Amino acid sequence: MGIAVSPQIHPQVAEFIDQPRKMLINGRWVNAASGKTFPTYNPATGEILAHVAEGDREDINQAVKAARNAFDNGPWRRMTASQRGRLIWKLADLLEQHTEEFGYIESLDNGKPLNIAKAADVPLAVDLFRYMAGWATKIEGNTIPLSVPYTPGAKYLAYTLREPVGVVGQIIPWNFPLLMAAWKLGPALATGCTVVLKPAEQTPLSALRLGDLIMEAGFPEGVVNIVPGYGETAGAALAAHPDVDKVAFTGSTEVGKLIVHAAAGNLKKVSLELGGKSPNVVFKDADLEIAIPGSASAIFFNHGQCCCAGSRLYVEKSVYDQVVEGVAEAARKIKVGSGLDPDTQMGPLVSEEQMNRVCGYLDAGLSEGAKAIAGGHKAGDRGYFVEPTVLVNTQEKMKVVQEEIFGPVVVAMPFTDPEEIIPRANNSDYGLAAAVWTRDIGKAHRMAEQLRAGTVWINCYNIFDAAMPFGGYKQSGWGREMGHDVLNLYTQTKAVCTRIA
Ligand code: NAI
Ligand code: MG
Repeated sequence: MGIAVSPQIHPQVAEFIDQPRKMLINGRWVNAASGKTFPTYNPATGEILAHVAEGDREDINQAVKAARNAFDNGPWRRMTASQRGRLIWKLADLLEQHTEEFGYIESLDNGKPLNIAKAADVPLAVDLFRYMAGWATKIEGNTIPLSVPYTPGAKYLAYTLREPVGVVGQIIPWNFPLLMAAWKLGPALATGCTVVLKPAEQTPLSALRLGDLIMEAGFPEGVVNIVPGYGETAGAALAAHPDVDKVAFTGSTEVGKLIVHAAAGNLKKVSLELGGKSPNVVFKDADLEIAIPGSASAIFFNHGQCCCAGSRLYVEKSVYDQVVEGVAEAARKIKVGSGLDPDTQMGPLVSEEQMNRVCGYLDAGLSEGAKAIAGGHKAGDRGYFVEPTVLVNTQEKMKVVQEEIFGPVVVAMPFTDPEEIIPRANNSDYGLAAAVWTRDIGKAHRMAEQLRAGTVWINCYNIFDAAMPFGGYKQSGWGREMGHDVLNLYTQTKAVCTRIA
């Protein structure tokens, strides 16, 4: 297709993106019913990277039909839990063998540094599949002693079964394209569901390449269907589809609310992992040698495009200048550039739209009286780069303090005592994550109890593990992904009761 890519690109990736990518329906790679394709861009250059089949309602209908048939009639439901687990483990092995290639795909499609994609995104996805492979054989019900008062003398055997919810629609974002696919697919497959996955239109490539590995691993046809396309068309059709039993969504709170409405038609189950404006609280008794770089990485990791980014930095007054200047210094030193450059520490934002959104927030903050002591502008003359930015002179009521920016922009504010900081930290519609930096473990755990967030990090930030549940309080979402908690999202309980005497 004459696509502009850098000369050092991985040969298998070059081959993969050279042809328009198709969608995976019922075990076959097919074009969109409409024949349409859409472009995906290299955010480091703004040039077209690849063309991808554009799924719409008709393709979603076909994919849901395949998933429904695979769930109701296919070999998948007759497999043992051990066989399911082994398939997931095999997928993890295949993915691990292709770490280099997936690193390139993520870097090209999303913009993130290749080295980070290879060190974080791909291994975390591999580990998630392995963790979930282990759960396949450990999904158990209970036996329940009954004391039915109106049948004196009768005896019953009662137990529960944990059964898969059925056909699951999964809609994922662009910030961790492969990892979000793994977070969604892993538990769905471990529990025996079938899936229609819609990757984000900005970053569909790694999910499509994963589709190849899913087929290579030997999953029966129709168990995983992957339909790239836009949110308003393919995504909306999936969320509203009457034959879908559950929808799992990660993305903006705004679209999360649309998903809830769309799901109402057949009352499908809904789980949501949405936005955040997470407080990162540094006390004067913290080890500042770790708190300062930790607070910088809390916001700048993945260019701030993390739902759990530590985007509100609260620092106890007596160390405020030292910490905030330290974070600003770290921001100024970050090497911004193309993700394929081995020296790059921060790549471009994912899209022009996202760059403009973040720059809009910078303008709003500066015009409301905030001051940028690092960054504050778009960077470079091509591609979607924004400077790592630290805003000071910020007030709680400002837009930049209240709203999710989803870019490399932190707002810093001082506080005077722990009593004051809890209500301020909790003063948000969101409740995804929070962090506390202190050497006082009693204070740290009292804070952890009082912070209204699904994850609280103490003296660390952005630590993820397949075994640790993740999700939101308040408008940051419904349900928990990862850990054994996620199994609740993909199973439902059946009570079975037998009279035995
Ligand atoms: P978005 O919420 O529009 O997109 C996320 C996914 O939802 C994509 O796959 C998209 O195609 C799909 N989608 C969009 N509209 C839909 C609809 N009506 N029905 C069904 N699916 C739909 O997020 P977008 O526009 O990419 O980013 C906007 C803001 O959302 C960001 O600035 C950030 O604040 C937030 N966001 C949060 C994420 C998170 O991890 N919690 C991830 C991505 C974005
Ligand atoms: Mg959107």
